[in-house]
Amino acid sequence: MRYLIVILYICVLLLYLNEADIQCTKAYSIICYIQGQSISPTNPFIIVNSNQTKASSVIIFDGQMPIMPNTIFLNNPQISTISINSMNLQQIAPDNFANGGNLKSIIIMKGMIKTLGNGTFKSCTNLLQLQITEQQISFIDINTFLGLQNLQILVLNNNQISSLHPLLFNPLISLSVILLQNNSLNSLDSTLFVKNTMLSGIYFAGNSITDLSNDLFKNQNFKSGSIDFSYNYLTTAQSYGASTINFSFNKLKTFYLSSGESTINIRNNFLRKIICPNSIPTVKRLYLSNNSLSNFLCIRDMVNLTELDVSENKYLIKPTKNTFMKLTKLMILTMCNMTKFTSIPAKAFVSTQNSLYNLRVDSLSSYKIVKQLLPQLTVLAINTLNKNCTYLQSLKTLLKNQSISMNYCAIEDRNRCN
Ligand SMILES: *[C@@H]1O[C@H](CO)[C@@H](O)[C@H](O)[C@H]1NC(C)=O
Ligand SMILES: *[C@@H]1O[C@H](CO)[C@@H](O)[C@H](O)[C@H]1NC(C)=O
Ligand SMILES: *[C@@H]1O[C@H](CO)[C@@H](O)[C@H](O)[C@H]1NC(C)=O
Ligand SMILES: *[C@@H]1O[C@H](CO)[C@@H](O)[C@H](O)[C@H]1NC(C)=O
Ligand SMILES: *[C@@H]1O[C@H](CO)[C@@H](O)[C@H](O)[C@H]1NC(C)=O
Ligand SMILES: *[C@@H]1O[C@H](CO)[C@@H](O)[C@H](O)[C@H]1NC(C)=O
Ligand SMILES: *[C@@H]1O[C@H](CO)[C@@H](O)[C@H](O)[C@H]1NC(C)=O
Ligand SMILES: *[C@@H]1O[C@H](CO)[C@@H](O)[C@H](O)[C@H]1NC(C)=O
Ligand SMILES: *[C@@H]1O[C@H](CO)[C@@H](O)[C@H](O)[C@H]1NC(C)=O
Repeated sequence: MRYLIVILYICVLLLYLNEADIQCTKAYSIICYIQGQSISPTNPFIIVNSNQTKASSVIIFDGQMPIMPNTIFLNNPQISTISINSMNLQQIAPDNFANGGNLKSIIIMKGMIKTLGNGTFKSCTNLLQLQITEQQISFIDINTFLGLQNLQILVLNNNQISSLHPLLFNPLISLSVILLQNNSLNSLDSTLFVKNTMLSGIYFAGNSITDLSNDLFKNQNFKSGSIDFSYNYLTTAQSYGASTINFSFNKLKTFYLSSGESTINIRNNFLRKIICPNSIPTVKRLYLSNNSLSNFLCIRDMVNLTELDVSENKYLIKPTKNTFMKLTKLMILTMCNMTKFTSIPAKAFVSTQNSLYNLRVDSLSSYKIVKQLLPQLTVLAINTLNKNCTYLQSLKTLLKNQSISMNYCAIEDRNRCN
């Protein structure tokens, strides 16, 4: 009996050692992890899963597979998700995904792929998600995405893509989200997205784009969409009516609102003005720190604004009682590191008295009556630069007596007087 078990054990072991087989180094129900293996292009790739379930998610990582075997999907047609991470993959050959008709998701991370070629995914007609990130892709041929009419998510972050053919995305009629962050794009053709009418998430942060056409998103309805072009070289931009917008860290001098925006991040630009639409702006959160605004035009009309940051706008005029008159829903206001003015009378904020609970300013002209004027206030941050600890301690007590906790414009300064 004992010998029988040993012989059986050896047989099982031999089965596993068969070069042709791929063993899951870990398997949880339908997920098979293949870690630290060297996989040759001639390997027939037959998955031996000790748990005897047919793995539909295969995650191959931390090993060597410079060239992908063509047999992966032929021999394992049940695979719907494949992830290839840190396998030193050098290229995707035309036949690698030839049997990928059941694939829903392809994720390829951390490799050395340099180009994507015509028809690579033409069999993957059910693919919903394609991610090829942290490679060295600099060229994508015009017909690369042929057949991907169901693709919803395309991620090509952290590559070296410097141009996109105007017809490249035409087959992607179901595309909903596209991420091309940290590439080398200088421009986008105005017709690039004409066929992608379902697009609602556009993430192109970290490129070198200098200009965007007004017509770029003319076929999209962005009502609940997001666009992110932060960390580019744009000098002028518009919101395209998206709900969440990020153009921070560009070179914007002007920014045009249309309508329907909810959150706008345009920090760290050279903005002198924001151009409002003819209708009342719908913006709820506006982040404008480190720009060159000199007045509150347009901002003062944002009746639904709940959060505003205008810190470090060195030309901005000091607000008066009229400035925030229409902003009766403002909850968080940040105006730190201003140079043209320091202290502001607390009464400048009275119109926000039913909502303002977090105020960050360099200093107020009277701290004694701040709670009387702003009954909702629970946090007041001030600029503590050049202020001695004796003064700060008494101010803290004064505010504490009004149930307001003192905070700091510069987080670094928080512990200075402890
Ligand atoms: C088989 O699956 C169980 C739980 O589903 C897991 O604990 C075990 O590690 C798996 N075996 C292998 C060899 O991966
Ligand atoms: C890809 O397809 C286009 C259009 O048919 C063709 O012009 C181009 O030469 C093809 N690329 C390669 C590498 O064959
Ligand atoms: C892009 O690069 C920046 C700077 O290196 C990095 O902080 C950011 O996480 C990157 N974005 C993505 C999506 O990897
Ligand atoms: C852009 O701003 C939005 C909203 O503030 C934020 O969620 C997003 O992470 C920002 N993007 C980058 C690349 O910093
Ligand atoms: C303000 O923006 C400029 C230009 O983008 C940048 O060089 C500078 O570092 C920013 N300052 C801060 C404090 O973020
Ligand atoms: C402001 O918010 C209210 C309540 O959500 C909404 O009915 C109104 O249309 C909004 N006005 C604008 C200009 O966004
Ligand atoms: C601390 O600052 C206050 C007001 O700014 C000043 O009146 C006081 O003399 C200062 N105390 C010390 C010890 O420097
Ligand atoms: C805070 O309030 C207490 C009691 O209400 C009072 O004795 C104290 O003087 C007040 N301190 C300051 C700094 O106003
Ligand atoms: C104000 O400036 C300080 C020092 O440069 C910086 O650390 C802090 O983040 C700034 N605060 C705001 C709200 O911009």
